[in-house]
Amino acid sequence: MQDIAIAKSNPRDHYKTKEAHMCIRRLIFGIAIAFSAIWSGSAGAETHSAASPGGAIQVVVTDENGRAAYSVSFNGEQVIAPSMLGLLFRDHHGFDRDLAIVAVDETTVNESWEQPWGERRIVNSHYNELAVDFSSSEGPERSMTVRFRVFNDGIGFRYEIDKQRALRKSVNIIDELTQFAVGENATAWWIPSGEFNRYEYIYSKTPAGDVQDAHTPITFRTETGVHLSIHEAALVDYSGMSLQRLRPGNFKAQLSPWSDGVRVKTEAPFKSPWRTIQIADDAAGLINSDLILNLNEPNALGDVSWVEPGKYVGIWWAMHIRDRSWGNDLIHGATTEETKRYIDFAAEHGFKGVLVEGWNIGWDGDWFNNGALFSFTESYPDFDLEELGAYAQSKGVRVIGHHETSGDVSNYESQLGAGFDLYEANGVAAVKTGYVADAGQIERVAENGLKRYEWHDGQFMVDHHLHVVKEAAKRKISINAHEPVKDTGLRRTYPNWVTREGARGMEFNAWGSPPNPPEHEAILAFTRMLSGPMDFTPGIFDLEPNKRPPLREDMQRSDPSNRPQTTLAKQLALYVVLYSPLQMAADLPENYEEKMDAFQFIKDVPADWEESVALNGEVGEYVTIARKERGGEDWYLGALTDEEPRSLEVALDFLDEGKSYVAQFYRDGPDADWESNPYEIMIYERPVSRDETLVLPLASSGGAAVRFKAVSE
Ligand code: NOJ
Ligand code: CA
Repeated sequence: MQDIAIAKSNPRDHYKTKEAHMCIRRLIFGIAIAFSAIWSGSAGAETHSAASPGGAIQVVVTDENGRAAYSVSFNGEQVIAPSMLGLLFRDHHGFDRDLAIVAVDETTVNESWEQPWGERRIVNSHYNELAVDFSSSEGPERSMTVRFRVFNDGIGFRYEIDKQRALRKSVNIIDELTQFAVGENATAWWIPSGEFNRYEYIYSKTPAGDVQDAHTPITFRTETGVHLSIHEAALVDYSGMSLQRLRPGNFKAQLSPWSDGVRVKTEAPFKSPWRTIQIADDAAGLINSDLILNLNEPNALGDVSWVEPGKYVGIWWAMHIRDRSWGNDLIHGATTEETKRYIDFAAEHGFKGVLVEGWNIGWDGDWFNNGALFSFTESYPDFDLEELGAYAQSKGVRVIGHHETSGDVSNYESQLGAGFDLYEANGVAAVKTGYVADAGQIERVAENGLKRYEWHDGQFMVDHHLHVVKEAAKRKISINAHEPVKDTGLRRTYPNWVTREGARGMEFNAWGSPPNPPEHEAILAFTRMLSGPMDFTPGIFDLEPNKRPPLREDMQRSDPSNRPQTTLAKQLALYVVLYSPLQMAADLPENYEEKMDAFQFIKDVPADWEESVALNGEVGEYVTIARKERGGEDWYLGALTDEEPRSLEVALDFLDEGKSYVAQFYRDGPDADWESNPYEIMIYERPVSRDETLVLPLASSGGAAVRFKAVSE
């Protein structure tokens, strides 16, 4: 009734009526327009809106001037000004203009689901959905749906393109027109996109108006203090999205191109990943959001009880500080004897895994540029995988595998099955992969047999990573990808994709000039970590490794100013702040043996959680996170600060009611300072109650780690 009236008053009247007859679904949905259509000022434009369940977030969608556009407000303040939507194709008409809303559909979902492992076991997903169908009035008939989901912690929307005559055969997307008009005066924390070093950059803090191009997640704070994080969810068979400046503070989606310039190669029907905007009234609210996971599909692997979170040690830091080498040409790290030393250490201190890098042929010489030489089945002669696999398992430990590809993906894929089979046969349940090659240097052999070079975040690598994860799952192996494509929450669908790198990790403190600055982890918590777990590899206890004399003259250490710029207590806090279900104790066993009192926290802290809550924080300044262990009663807390010493007040009301706790503190000593006195640490315990507020003094680039041990009365 009313929808017909709308159609009549609309200049695109004829088209709409025709469209409505085309399909019964459309006709039914047409009635829905009567409920949610709001007439905007502009003649003929149609506008629809959806609000979050709590009402704070509102999304408005319109076809004004024949363009698809949306805007977002939070508590009445516009946080995304009207921003365009659309797609362009190489060989077909696109969705950029002459568009009209022809139907909408609304639903509400409120459900909870359980994570096999994660920051919290039970996740609530509560949203209002608005699916808006746009059709074109010029050129061949074509239609797209833009589906919005509005949660209390932000929004997601994606393009859904049905099979249709106008998009027959292969579809080459050459541009995505999605815009995010944040405004130039917001503050942004970001890393550049399209650079050689992928996501491994020091974060910048600038006005949004100064950002030219940036990877996601990117975090903004508006002038009124609202926090936003723009990212994407469920990146499958598509290219990664970064943000490109259109005008100061107004960004456009930029899809990472294939080597031939096409952005995405697909065919209808297809769906884009979700474009996400997390919204919170404070910085900690961003961390407490489950939006990215909620927009991913449920577990596709069935029983995943074989995916085991846990802590590990490994033959790793020794190479980064140049004590040892990956290859057999200097002091080979991955020998049978040295691996046994790590296995013994792991068994003695309760670690589940021992990562072994440099065990396989291919590392000698310039491995960085010779990915084709890697074998994933042949060991160096001084490394016996079979013996070590059995030795580890006899001690309740497993070898963690390593597949460095140096970007030669075709070489890796040709050996993938055999490489995983070998590991499976030797009790390896987790494999770290690696793609150290400059962005744009990922090698593949194209259909015509010629070599092509692809980006780390392009569709080719998106597909490759998922292929690896699926092949690994067939052998009950979990994947920890380094130099990966960014995380978009696919761990929900593929729970064996446990963790990844995808930012500057600890390794930069061994050889990076400059190393990670004191504010680094206080930025990561509010940026990179919003996308998912990170294999940061915390827990360095010798904070000045490059000051030690080299073991051999031809193995010169890096510049002594390259070091973790933190206190010892902050290294412990990282275990709680930077979530990863595979969490490394990254330093050498001998360095832990010197500080067993502080090491106790690393031994105790779990890698899997029942619940997590960010208690306070400001991006790049400080953060406090509390987490409750899964399968137990204890809570853990990590707090850390940038170079600014500060005292944080933390109310303990997150502790369970009716329980008694003894808190074990690992805090910066009164004179601790990352630069001049990093090791001063106070370790003590006392009973605490959930009614009290702790005051945690943190040194310059310091931290605090606390275990709240539940005690029976
Ligand atoms: C870079 C990874 O991030 C690091 O952890 C690894 O040790 C090296 N590549 C060698 O694969
Ligand atoms: Ca790396």
